[in-house]
Amino acid sequence: MTAVILVSESTDLVRRVRLATDDNLLVLTRHQLPAGPAQLLALTEEPEEVRTVLVDADGDAELANRTLELAGKFEQQFPTVSLLLITQQAEQLALSALRAGVKDLMSPQLDVEEFRWAIRRASEITTGRSSSGAPADSFGGRVITVASPKGGVGKTTLATNIAMGLTQQSPQGTVLIDLDIQFGDVAAALDLDPVYTLSDVVSGPSAQDPIALKALLTAHPSGLHVLPGVKSPAEADHIGAAQIATLIASLKQEFRFVVIDTAPGMSEETLAAMDHTTDLVLITSLDVPGVRGLRKELELLGELELTPATRHIVVNMAEKGGGLAVPDVEATIGASVDLVLPRSMKVMRSTNEGSPIVESQPRDPLSRELVQLVHRFSPATTRSAWLGHRARGRR
Ligand SMILES: Nc1ncnc2c1ncn2[C@@H]1O[C@H](COP(=O)(O)OP(=O)(O)OP(=O)(O)O)[C@@H](O)[C@H]1O
Ligand SMILES: [Mg+2]
Repeated sequence: MTAVILVSESTDLVRRVRLATDDNLLVLTRHQLPAGPAQLLALTEEPEEVRTVLVDADGDAELANRTLELAGKFEQQFPTVSLLLITQQAEQLALSALRAGVKDLMSPQLDVEEFRWAIRRASEITTGRSSSGAPADSFGGRVITVASPKGGVGKTTLATNIAMGLTQQSPQGTVLIDLDIQFGDVAAALDLDPVYTLSDVVSGPSAQDPIALKALLTAHPSGLHVLPGVKSPAEADHIGAAQIATLIASLKQEFRFVVIDTAPGMSEETLAAMDHTTDLVLITSLDVPGVRGLRKELELLGELELTPATRHIVVNMAEKGGGLAVPDVEATIGASVDLVLPRSMKVMRSTNEGSPIVESQPRDPLSRELVQLVHRFSPATTRSAWLGHRARGRR
């Protein structure tokens, strides 16, 4: 049985894909690749068994173009076969390739397990959609939304650190979305220069397809995937609550953890995220307006019946001598505080260097507390269960 066709001339890549497919593989050279899908499938003994075609077009622009044409034909004529493009230029080619019908783009450097995962995922999604109109399975990842009524209290700091802490536990398993769509600074805080933003992913083929979506995320060297806000306010106009809800639902299928940074207050985007949020991290600083704002936010969520399953109340930048203490906060909001984070002089430097403090200064007292917060979402004991769940890797 041949479930996978691979077009490649790299013996090393062929070896890895052969192991990833348990030898259910037909290998062709670039010159053997026919122009039409039917001719390609006819090269195997059982054309109806083929689920995936991988084309290694690394360093060959002409082959990449031919592959895009072929992908469109496959989509029309054989929609249950996924065509995957192997290239070093995944970011540059992603949008045009996905529009053309390519189901995923991947680096030639993937290891055996990463190839196995990517091939299985592509095939599950294509076959699932063709039979039921919906993706075949749902990993149902945890969605952690970081919010606060007031600005400047540490949402972005917490969101980037939580995402980094989870990535350290579950490499490739975490995506961070910047839902402070106009003024967000997640990309800057991680020293990333994204090619695609929210505005690219909420329209076009990637909107409904988790695999296509994944190719448009920006990869941080740690393994964290990032989806930044828009580049100009005008781009935000066509992003609505429904699209954000669909986006989160899609990413939830693909990642174990979806971490969301938000704008101050309950913006339309934050409310849209609330429906999918499993864990809400609410932050306040130790000042009267901030704590009162938090009480109002809790009341509002209650009235809207949007309180997520788990809520974590965090006091950030705690210092003695400011007038308010944690018991005052608890009395005002009528709930207990789950975590108190100290002020740290090193936070600003870590943000300016583009490296969250849990990564750059793991011994800092603030990092130690942040790790406690991360463990609330990912207890170390459950790690092993997820080691097999590895997303498509390095680009
Ligand atoms: N525990 C902390 N100790 C010291 N400085 C901190 C701490 N947490 C956050 N900061 C600093 O406070 C400032 C505001 O933090 P951050 O940008 O994370 O807040 P925010 O809530 O995302 O703000 P905005 O509402 O504007 O998006 C930053 O300069 C950050 O470095
Ligand atoms: Mg922020």
